[in-house]
Amino acid sequence: MTKVANPINKEDVDLNTYEGIAEFYDELMTKGYYDYDELTKELSQIMGERREILELGVGTGLVAELLLKENSKFSLTGIDNTEAMIKQAQDRLGDKISYELQDVTKLDLPKKYEGAFSVGGCWYFIDNGSEKSLQLCSHIDDLETSKKGLQKVVEHLEPGGILALALQPAHTNYSKELSNELIYSQEIFESPNGFTKHYCFKNKEKVVAEQMYSYLVVSENDSHDFFANLGCKPIGLNSSRKFFIYQKR
Ligand SMILES: C[S@@+](CC[C@H](N)C(=O)[O-])C[C@H]1O[C@@H](n2cnc3c(N)ncnc32)[C@H](O)[C@@H]1O
Repeated sequence: MTKVANPINKEDVDLNTYEGIAEFYDELMTKGYYDYDELTKELSQIMGERREILELGVGTGLVAELLLKENSKFSLTGIDNTEAMIKQAQDRLGDKISYELQDVTKLDLPKKYEGAFSVGGCWYFIDNGSEKSLQLCSHIDDLETSKKGLQKVVEHLEPGGILALALQPAHTNYSKELSNELIYSQEIFESPNGFTKHYCFKNKEKVVAEQMYSYLVVSENDSHDFFANLGCKPIGLNSSRKFFIYQKR
Protein backbone atom coordinates (compact mmCIF):
# COMPACT_ATOMS: atom_id res chain seq x y z
CA MET A 1 0.00 0.00 0.00
CA THR A 2 1.32 3.45 -0.84
CA LYS A 3 2.20 5.64 2.15
CA VAL A 4 2.75 9.33 2.12
CA ALA A 5 4.77 11.54 4.41
CA ASN A 6 3.66 14.91 3.02
CA PRO A 7 1.88 17.28 3.12
CA ILE A 8 1.04 16.59 6.78
CA ASN A 9 4.57 15.48 7.65
CA LYS A 10 3.56 12.12 9.06
CA GLU A 11 5.30 8.95 8.06
CA ASP A 12 2.66 6.25 7.95
CA VAL A 13 -0.61 7.46 6.57
CA ASP A 14 -2.49 5.41 3.99
CA LEU A 15 -2.73 7.03 0.58
CA ASN A 16 -5.61 6.60 -1.86
CA THR A 17 -7.55 3.87 -0.10
CA TYR A 18 -10.50 4.00 2.29
CA GLU A 19 -9.09 1.14 4.40
CA GLY A 20 -7.75 3.73 6.86
CA ILE A 21 -11.13 5.21 7.81
CA ALA A 22 -13.62 2.49 6.78
CA GLU A 23 -14.47 1.70 10.41
CA PHE A 24 -15.64 5.27 11.06
CA TYR A 25 -17.00 6.07 7.60
CA ASP A 26 -20.71 5.64 8.39
CA GLU A 27 -20.39 7.66 11.59
CA LEU A 28 -19.19 10.60 9.51
CA MET A 29 -21.47 10.22 6.51
CA THR A 30 -24.72 9.71 8.38
CA LYS A 31 -24.22 12.92 10.38
CA GLY A 32 -24.96 15.26 7.51
CA TYR A 33 -21.97 14.86 5.19
CA TYR A 34 -24.35 14.14 2.28
CA ASP A 35 -28.16 14.45 2.15
CA TYR A 36 -28.64 10.83 1.15
CA ASP A 37 -32.47 11.01 1.31
CA GLU A 38 -32.62 13.88 -1.14
CA LEU A 39 -29.93 12.42 -3.40
CA THR A 40 -31.58 9.02 -3.66
CA LYS A 41 -35.03 10.53 -4.37
CA GLU A 42 -33.51 12.47 -7.27
CA LEU A 43 -31.49 9.48 -8.47
CA SER A 44 -34.56 7.26 -8.49
CA GLN A 45 -36.33 9.78 -10.74
CA ILE A 46 -33.31 10.08 -13.03
CA MET A 47 -33.09 6.29 -13.44
CA GLY A 48 -36.86 6.09 -14.04
CA GLU A 49 -37.75 2.84 -15.79
CA ARG A 50 -34.12 1.70 -16.08
CA ARG A 51 -33.54 -1.43 -14.03
CA GLU A 52 -29.94 -2.69 -14.39
CA ILE A 53 -27.86 -0.11 -12.56
CA LEU A 54 -24.20 0.09 -11.60
CA GLU A 55 -22.92 2.07 -8.61
CA LEU A 56 -19.34 3.28 -9.02
CA GLY A 57 -17.79 3.34 -5.55
CA VAL A 58 -20.61 1.72 -3.56
CA GLY A 59 -18.70 2.22 -0.31
CA THR A 60 -20.66 0.89 2.68
CA GLY A 61 -23.91 0.75 0.69
CA LEU A 62 -25.58 3.88 2.13
CA VAL A 63 -26.83 5.12 -1.25
CA ALA A 64 -27.81 1.67 -2.52
CA GLU A 65 -29.89 1.01 0.59
CA LEU A 66 -31.97 4.17 0.23
CA LEU A 67 -32.22 3.87 -3.55
CA LEU A 68 -33.80 0.44 -3.15
CA LYS A 69 -36.23 1.92 -0.65
CA GLU A 70 -37.21 4.45 -3.32
CA ASN A 71 -37.71 1.71 -5.89
CA SER A 72 -37.27 -1.96 -5.07
CA LYS A 73 -37.37 -2.85 -8.79
CA PHE A 74 -33.86 -1.53 -9.36
CA SER A 75 -31.28 -4.28 -9.83
CA LEU A 76 -28.09 -2.82 -8.38
CA THR A 77 -24.47 -3.85 -8.76
CA GLY A 78 -22.01 -2.02 -6.53
CA ILE A 79 -18.32 -1.92 -7.35
CA ASP A 80 -15.59 -0.71 -5.01
CA ASN A 81 -11.87 -1.34 -4.69
CA THR A 82 -11.75 -1.05 -0.87
CA GLU A 83 -12.48 -4.42 0.72
CA ALA A 84 -13.27 -2.99 4.16
CA MET A 85 -15.94 -0.73 2.60
CA ILE A 86 -17.61 -3.33 0.42
CA LYS A 87 -17.71 -5.76 3.38
CA GLN A 88 -19.81 -3.25 5.28
CA ALA A 89 -22.11 -2.93 2.26
CA GLN A 90 -22.51 -6.71 2.29
CA ASP A 91 -23.34 -6.66 6.00
CA ARG A 92 -25.88 -3.88 5.39
CA LEU A 93 -27.58 -5.23 2.28
CA GLY A 94 -26.93 -8.98 2.08
CA ASP A 95 -28.21 -10.33 -1.21
CA LYS A 96 -30.31 -7.24 -2.04
CA ILE A 97 -27.57 -6.06 -4.42
CA SER A 98 -24.57 -7.62 -6.22
CA TYR A 99 -21.02 -6.69 -5.25
CA GLU A 100 -17.78 -6.51 -7.20
CA LEU A 101 -14.47 -5.83 -5.48
CA GLN A 102 -12.86 -4.18 -8.49
CA ASP A 103 -10.85 -1.15 -9.46
CA VAL A 104 -13.02 0.85 -11.84
CA THR A 105 -10.01 1.50 -14.09
CA LYS A 106 -9.92 -2.25 -14.83
CA LEU A 107 -13.67 -2.80 -14.71
CA ASP A 108 -14.61 -6.18 -16.09
CA LEU A 109 -18.21 -7.30 -15.62
CA PRO A 110 -20.16 -9.88 -17.62
CA LYS A 111 -23.11 -7.63 -18.47
CA LYS A 112 -24.04 -4.15 -19.55
CA TYR A 113 -26.08 -1.62 -17.61
CA GLU A 114 -28.91 0.77 -18.44
CA GLY A 115 -27.60 3.26 -15.93
CA ALA A 116 -24.59 3.97 -13.74
CA PHE A 117 -24.07 6.52 -11.01
CA SER A 118 -21.59 7.78 -8.47
CA VAL A 119 -22.34 9.73 -5.30
CA GLY A 120 -18.94 10.88 -4.06
CA GLY A 121 -17.66 7.60 -5.51
CA CYS A 122 -15.14 7.12 -8.30
CA TRP A 123 -16.08 10.48 -9.87
CA TYR A 124 -18.26 13.41 -8.89
CA PHE A 125 -18.72 17.05 -9.80
CA ILE A 126 -17.67 19.95 -7.63
CA ASP A 127 -20.34 22.66 -7.70
CA ASN A 128 -18.79 26.10 -7.31
CA GLY A 129 -22.18 27.83 -7.47
CA SER A 130 -24.68 28.37 -10.26
CA GLU A 131 -22.71 31.22 -11.88
CA LYS A 132 -19.58 29.12 -12.35
CA SER A 133 -18.85 25.99 -14.33
CA LEU A 134 -18.53 22.63 -12.60
CA GLN A 135 -15.31 20.68 -12.07
CA LEU A 136 -15.02 16.93 -12.49
CA CYS A 137 -13.33 15.42 -9.45
CA SER A 138 -11.79 11.96 -9.65
CA HIS A 139 -10.72 9.50 -6.97
CA ILE A 140 -8.26 8.30 -9.63
CA ASP A 141 -5.62 10.99 -9.46
CA ASP A 142 -3.77 10.22 -12.69
CA LEU A 143 -5.44 11.79 -15.75
CA GLU A 144 -4.83 8.99 -18.26
CA THR A 145 -5.82 6.28 -15.74
CA SER A 146 -8.96 8.22 -14.84
CA LYS A 147 -9.88 8.52 -18.54
CA LYS A 148 -9.28 4.77 -18.90
CA GLY A 149 -11.74 4.25 -16.02
CA LEU A 150 -14.38 6.39 -17.73
CA GLN A 151 -13.83 4.37 -20.91
CA LYS A 152 -14.39 1.13 -18.96
CA VAL A 153 -17.60 2.50 -17.46
CA VAL A 154 -18.95 3.60 -20.85
CA GLU A 155 -18.06 0.19 -22.32
CA HIS A 156 -20.29 -1.32 -19.62
CA LEU A 157 -23.28 0.88 -20.56
CA GLU A 158 -25.98 -0.15 -23.03
CA PRO A 159 -26.49 2.24 -25.97
CA GLY A 160 -28.76 4.97 -24.55
CA GLY A 161 -27.51 4.16 -21.04
CA ILE A 162 -26.91 7.06 -18.69
CA LEU A 163 -24.21 7.99 -16.19
CA ALA A 164 -25.31 10.28 -13.33
CA LEU A 165 -22.57 11.94 -11.29
CA ALA A 166 -23.58 13.70 -8.07
CA LEU A 167 -22.64 17.33 -7.40
CA GLN A 168 -21.15 18.45 -4.11
CA PRO A 169 -19.69 21.70 -2.82
CA ALA A 170 -15.94 22.31 -2.90
CA HIS A 171 -14.08 20.72 0.02
CA THR A 172 -13.09 22.94 2.95
CA ASN A 173 -11.05 22.60 6.11
CA TYR A 174 -13.16 21.95 9.20
CA SER A 175 -13.52 19.99 12.40
CA LYS A 176 -16.76 18.46 13.73
CA GLU A 177 -17.83 16.58 16.84
CA LEU A 178 -19.52 13.33 15.77
CA SER A 179 -20.13 12.08 19.33
CA ASN A 180 -18.73 12.61 22.86
CA GLU A 181 -15.92 10.31 21.90
CA LEU A 182 -15.24 11.15 18.29
CA ILE A 183 -14.05 14.27 16.48
CA TYR A 184 -13.64 14.37 12.70
CA SER A 185 -11.44 16.88 10.94
CA GLN A 186 -10.34 17.32 7.37
CA GLU A 187 -7.66 19.43 5.74
CA ILE A 188 -7.27 20.21 2.06
CA PHE A 189 -3.90 20.76 0.34
CA GLU A 190 -3.80 22.14 -3.19
CA SER A 191 -1.75 20.05 -5.63
CA PRO A 192 -0.74 20.68 -9.26
CA ASN A 193 -3.56 18.49 -10.64
CA GLY A 194 -6.17 18.90 -7.94
CA PHE A 195 -5.91 18.53 -4.20
CA THR A 196 -5.00 16.13 -1.42
CA LYS A 197 -7.38 15.64 1.49
CA HIS A 198 -6.42 14.51 4.98
CA TYR A 199 -9.27 12.73 6.81
CA CYS A 200 -8.72 12.36 10.57
CA PHE A 201 -10.77 10.85 13.41
CA LYS A 202 -9.71 11.54 17.00
CA ASN A 203 -10.88 10.16 20.33
CA LYS A 204 -9.77 12.41 23.20
CA GLU A 205 -6.94 13.92 21.15
CA LYS A 206 -5.72 10.48 20.08
CA VAL A 207 -5.84 9.76 16.35
CA VAL A 208 -7.89 6.59 15.88
CA ALA A 209 -8.10 6.62 12.08
CA GLU A 210 -6.76 8.72 9.24
CA GLN A 211 -6.03 8.66 5.54
CA MET A 212 -4.77 10.88 2.74
CA TYR A 213 -6.50 10.91 -0.62
CA SER A 214 -5.12 12.62 -3.68
CA TYR A 215 -7.80 13.83 -6.12
CA LEU A 216 -7.61 14.88 -9.74
CA VAL A 217 -9.72 17.87 -10.79
CA VAL A 218 -10.53 18.79 -14.40
CA SER A 219 -12.71 21.47 -15.91
CA GLU A 220 -16.29 20.86 -17.00
CA ASN A 221 -15.28 21.45 -20.64
CA ASP A 222 -12.51 18.86 -20.42
CA SER A 223 -14.97 16.43 -18.89
CA HIS A 224 -17.40 16.97 -21.78
CA ASP A 225 -14.51 16.39 -24.23
CA PHE A 226 -13.56 13.10 -22.50
CA PHE A 227 -17.14 11.88 -22.70
CA ALA A 228 -17.57 13.06 -26.31
CA ASN A 229 -14.52 10.96 -27.25
CA LEU A 230 -16.23 8.00 -25.58
CA GLY A 231 -19.41 8.51 -27.62
CA CYS A 232 -21.43 10.17 -24.83
CA LYS A 233 -23.38 13.41 -24.93
CA PRO A 234 -24.02 15.67 -21.94
CA ILE A 235 -27.72 15.66 -20.98
CA GLY A 236 -26.95 18.27 -18.32
CA LEU A 237 -27.97 18.95 -14.74
CA ASN A 238 -31.14 17.46 -13.33
CA SER A 239 -33.76 20.01 -12.24
CA SER A 240 -32.60 20.15 -8.61
CA ARG A 241 -28.89 20.54 -9.55
CA LYS A 242 -27.93 17.41 -7.64
CA PHE A 243 -26.63 15.32 -10.58
CA PHE A 244 -24.97 15.88 -13.95
CA ILE A 245 -26.00 13.31 -16.53
CA TYR A 246 -24.24 11.91 -19.60
CA GLN A 247 -25.80 9.54 -22.10
CA LYS A 248 -24.13 6.95 -24.30
CA ARG A 249 -25.25 7.37 -27.93
C1 LIG B 1 -16.48 8.82 -0.51
S1 LIG B 1 -16.74 7.11 -0.76
C2 LIG B 1 -18.42 7.12 -1.41
C3 LIG B 1 -19.17 5.86 -1.09
C4 LIG B 1 -20.68 5.90 -1.32
N1 LIG B 1 -20.99 6.22 -2.69
C5 LIG B 1 -21.35 6.86 -0.37
O1 LIG B 1 -21.94 7.84 -0.83
O2 LIG B 1 -21.29 6.67 0.84
C6 LIG B 1 -15.78 6.76 -2.22
C7 LIG B 1 -15.71 5.28 -2.55
O3 LIG B 1 -15.14 5.13 -3.86
C8 LIG B 1 -14.27 4.02 -3.83
N2 LIG B 1 -13.27 4.13 -4.89
C9 LIG B 1 -12.31 5.08 -5.02
N3 LIG B 1 -11.55 4.84 -6.08
C10 LIG B 1 -12.02 3.71 -6.66
C11 LIG B 1 -11.62 2.93 -7.79
N4 LIG B 1 -10.57 3.28 -8.53
N5 LIG B 1 -12.33 1.82 -8.10
C12 LIG B 1 -13.38 1.44 -7.33
N6 LIG B 1 -13.81 2.13 -6.24
C13 LIG B 1 -13.12 3.24 -5.91
C14 LIG B 1 -13.65 4.06 -2.43
O4 LIG B 1 -13.10 2.81 -2.05
C15 LIG B 1 -14.83 4.51 -1.57
O5 LIG B 1 -15.53 3.41 -1.02
